[in-house]
Amino acid sequence: MYKILKKDGSAKRAEFTTVHGTVQTPVFMNVATVAAIKGGVSTEDLEGIDTQVVLSNTYHLHLRPGDDVVYRMGGLHKFMSCNKPILTDSGGFQVFSLAKTRKIKEEGVYFHSHIDGHKLFMGPEESMRIQSHLGSTIAMAFDECPSAKAEHEYVQMSVDRTTRWLERCKKEMDRLNSLEYTVNHDQMLFGINQGAIFDDIRIEHAKRISELDLDGYAVGGLAVGESHEEMYHVLETVVPYLPENKPTYLMGVGTPANILEAVERGVDFFDCVYPSRNGRHGHLYTNRGHINLLNARYELDDTPIEEGCKCPACRRYSKAYIRHLLKSGEMLGLRLCVLHNLYFYNHMMEEIRDAIDAGRFQEYKKNKLYGMQEFDS
Ligand code: GUN
Ligand code: ZN
Repeated sequence: MYKILKKDGSAKRAEFTTVHGTVQTPVFMNVATVAAIKGGVSTEDLEGIDTQVVLSNTYHLHLRPGDDVVYRMGGLHKFMSCNKPILTDSGGFQVFSLAKTRKIKEEGVYFHSHIDGHKLFMGPEESMRIQSHLGSTIAMAFDECPSAKAEHEYVQMSVDRTTRWLERCKKEMDRLNSLEYTVNHDQMLFGINQGAIFDDIRIEHAKRISELDLDGYAVGGLAVGESHEEMYHVLETVVPYLPENKPTYLMGVGTPANILEAVERGVDFFDCVYPSRNGRHGHLYTNRGHINLLNARYELDDTPIEEGCKCPACRRYSKAYIRHLLKSGEMLGLRLCVLHNLYFYNHMMEEIRDAIDAGRFQEYKKNKLYGMQEFDS
């Protein structure tokens, strides 16, 4: 159940209730592609960094350990000991970005595993069956994400097929949810809007998928090579055609600035690998912009990464110490950096929610962006 609590311009402050708990939006989902947050972050650690939702992946878990293993272990929540809502991406995007050779047909996609090269097939029904085995809170529809550079004619053909795939996803999900031995009988399904940077295709597709009464709607096919301005334009164009009484999810985006711009355009859900990936390289987010902890200027810096930050790294450790850990190749260094970055994102979302509640989102956004310029590249 999705309930809008407050609006500030087009920015929405809402509450999304699932069988695994209630989510306050706008929210950032913490990425655990292979049922693990990279950088050695445990599900217990998530308590200390204000995580609300975890994101995992159909494609990766199907290959390893196998969704049948996860099913036999009682589903993904039990398997990874996670008591928060989990969203699983459908595998469509990963088949296109990771698999070596692939052939797209009406029935689905034929491809080779990026792990051992063996031949595989995934279509809408397979994706739904895998996600049903995982028992995630929210399953994503199986889609094709056409290249940002694809021609209008190809994108139109691809999006029409993605719509037919969505209808098949919904039918299969309804069937799976009603089976006796299903892990999560209340598994939700989010549709995904595609159409590259073509307004006409995006709008037409948004209208068609909105008729299907799904649990939420994602905007996909962004951050795949188009400019930031093109991405914001797509959001402005398409979000008004998605149902307002359902959550909106911008897939795979992005920088703090991207998130602020998207919230302003009505987006509720986000996910991105930046905080964990950058953290593993010693690149840290602060309210004054990025810092690179490997920089020699931090060798004798006894202050935390961010003064006043409540994350497990900043509560206890200095930049000089964490820098030393990174330079020594100690796992703890990576872990602390990832924890700080995830906390930075999760905490920014809390500030965003507070700002919308108080009707001062514009002021908050302006100040946040201004502050972050200091060290930003
Ligand atoms: N993750 C980032 N973009 C996309 C997309 O367009 N589709 C899917 N399924 N996942 C994504
Ligand atoms: Zn911190």
